Amino acid sequence: MNVVMLGRPGAGKGTQSKSIASQRGLRHLSTGELLRTAKQQDTPLGRRIAQRIDAGDFVTDELAMSLVEQAMQSPSQLGYVFDGIPRTLGQDSLLSDSLAKLGNKIDLAILLDVGEETVRNRLLNRAAIEGRHDDTVETIGHRLAVYETETSPLVDCYRQQGVLRSIDGSGTPEDVLCLVLAALDEMTPGEAALNAI
Ligand code: AP5
Ligand code: MG
Repeated sequence: MNVVMLGRPGAGKGTQSKSIASQRGLRHLSTGELLRTAKQQDTPLGRRIAQRIDAGDFVTDELAMSLVEQAMQSPSQLGYVFDGIPRTLGQDSLLSDSLAKLGNKIDLAILLDVGEETVRNRLLNRAAIEGRHDDTVETIGHRLAVYETETSPLVDCYRQQGVLRSIDGSGTPEDVLCLVLAALDEMTPGEAALNAI
C-alpha cells in the first residue's frame, strides 16, 4: 500500500508518517529529510539545496523525485509512506509514473487538516528545540503561502480520484494516529483484522 501524507508545514506529516510506517511495516520516505541530508554536502548541489530550503522555496520537481527514486531502489515489500512528496501537480505525475512502472499506485492520500495558527505555533516551538533554519517567523509565513499555491491543488486532485481522506490533525499526536490508522484500515479491511489479533 502506498500512502501520501498531505498537510500544511507543521501539520504533523513527519510525526504521523513515522508511526504508521512502524505500525504497518511501510517504508517512510521524507523528501525534507533527504534534502536536509543532501544539503550537508559541500558541493554546488548541496549549496543550491541549502539556499532553496532555508528560504522555504521548493527545489525542482525533478530533483525531489530523483532523490525519492534513489531511495526506492531497494524496494519495500509492503509499500511506502510518502511524506513531503508530491508537493506539486507535476510531482504527482512523476510519482504516479514511477509507481506505475513497478505495477503500483497511490492508494491513499491522507490530509492532516490543521489551522494556520496552530501550525505556526508548533513550528515556532520546534525552532527552539531543533533549530531548523526554515522555522523562523518569516520563513514559516512563506512556506504556508507556497503550500497554498503549489500543494493545496493536490487535495482536489486526490478527492476527484477518490483516494483522499481528510483527518482532523489538531488533536494530540496519539489522537491523530488513531484517526490515521482507521483511515488506513478502511482501505485494507483484511489486514486490519490481522492487526487486531
Ligand atoms: P519538509 O521537511 O517536508 O517540511 P514541511 O512540509 O514544511 O513540514 P514540516 O516537516 O515542517 O512539518 P510536518 O508536517 O512534517 O510536521 P511535524 O511532524 O514535523 O520540507 C522542508 C523543505 O524541503 C520544504 O520547505 C522545501 O523547501 C523542501 N522540499 C521538501 N520536499 C520537497 C518536494 N517534494 N519538492 C520540492 N521541495 C521540497 O510536526 C511539526 C512540529 O509539531 C514538531 O515539533 C512535532 O513534534 C509537533 N507536532 C506534530 N504533531 C503534533 C500534534 N498532534 N500536536 C502537537 N504537536 C505536534
Ligand atoms: Mg516533516
